[in-house]
Amino acid sequence: MTSPAPLRARHIVLGITGGVAAYKSAELVRLLVQDNIGVQVVMTAAATRFVAPATFQALSGRNVFVDLWDDRVENGMAHIDLSREAAAILVAPASADFLAKLAHGNADDLLSTLCLARDCPLLVAPAMNRQMWEHPATQRNAAQLAADGVALLGPAAGDQACGEVGMGRMLEPGELHQALVAYFAPRLLAGRRVLLTAGPTQEAIDPVRVITNLSSGKMGYALARACAEAGAAVTLVSGPTALATPPGVARIDVMNAAGMLAAVESQLPGQDIFIGVAAVADYTVANPSAVKHKKGDAPLKIELAPTVDILARVAAGARAPFCVGFAAESENVEANAEAKRRKKGVPLLVANRAQDALGSDTNAVTLLDDNGRHPLPAAPKLEVARQIVTHIAGMLAAAGK
Ligand code: CTP
Repeated sequence: MTSPAPLRARHIVLGITGGVAAYKSAELVRLLVQDNIGVQVVMTAAATRFVAPATFQALSGRNVFVDLWDDRVENGMAHIDLSREAAAILVAPASADFLAKLAHGNADDLLSTLCLARDCPLLVAPAMNRQMWEHPATQRNAAQLAADGVALLGPAAGDQACGEVGMGRMLEPGELHQALVAYFAPRLLAGRRVLLTAGPTQEAIDPVRVITNLSSGKMGYALARACAEAGAAVTLVSGPTALATPPGVARIDVMNAAGMLAAVESQLPGQDIFIGVAAVADYTVANPSAVKHKKGDAPLKIELAPTVDILARVAAGARAPFCVGFAAESENVEANAEAKRRKKGVPLLVANRAQDALGSDTNAVTLLDDNGRHPLPAAPKLEVARQIVTHIAGMLAAAGK
């Protein structure tokens, strides 16, 4: 997975201060490094009481710095040099004490000095006990930091290490990773509203049996995430999946094709873009049984009735949004997909080989539009999704929309 240009080939300084949530920062480093974002970890002395620097050194592949007087930085200017090439400093977890220091401009250790002597954005992810977060002093400090242009990521509400429940929990590593990437992502879809479908559908045969397909929902969820990163307001109508909702995305769960159609139609007014990624059942059970079918010796016949093609219906509607379809083809991929694009009347269709795409973490797709074919190389689905978003934004701009 790679990030959009502004953060790609760059690196951040990850500041870790003293708090139980420091263990989550190990996972954050792993996610960032996987996304080709270089991470220079700088810890406070208190942070090293929670997780040893060796853990972050191994995960980031770089020396970890704690001491303002560390002589491993050649010119002895660690407090300036470590953040010189950084796209940002992210402090996660940021303790109540560290927020206080930042708000007052204190610089009595390496991390607080780096935060003061920087010309890159500063993002902080507070993590502390509920009472510490709610204390007027902390609230004052947080407001001061926001006024100073510091981006506050979280905190969230939930279970706390101290046994209490409330505000003060650090955002999860995946949320912080996404927030960081989104902070730098080009706002290609800012102000746009995007509606997506994703995942499989389940058509009931009886109360315990369904007809479904092998769609995992990964591509649709990746697109929802990429649209949110690009600044869109995103609604995701999802069939049954085991996936987590991407941060900032409104999700509506449905079971079957009819439920998906109803949810899409209710959400459609005011949408600028519709992206049909779901593997919607083409047929549903004509007469599902209210009771469980009993086993018998005779063959069981189930009558199937065609479902509504959601994408084609949305595309044919009055004031239709910009419509994007997917085509899962097992053979003659591009020819079949182009025929599907014309039949459904959509300006952009994403063609992929069903055998390769279903359930996989990577995908190789070809974008088909009025200007022809645009193959994208095989890549993780999130990267493919970001490129599809770039293409959509380009088409909207070219159409003067
Ligand atoms: N689609 C839809 N509603 C349906 C069937 C498909 O919205 N009832 C959408 C899918 O979300 C996808 C596109 O149509 O964006 C193409 O889906 P695909 O399964 O590849 O094609 P089908 O139209 O179902 O045709 P076939 O199964 O014959 O290839």
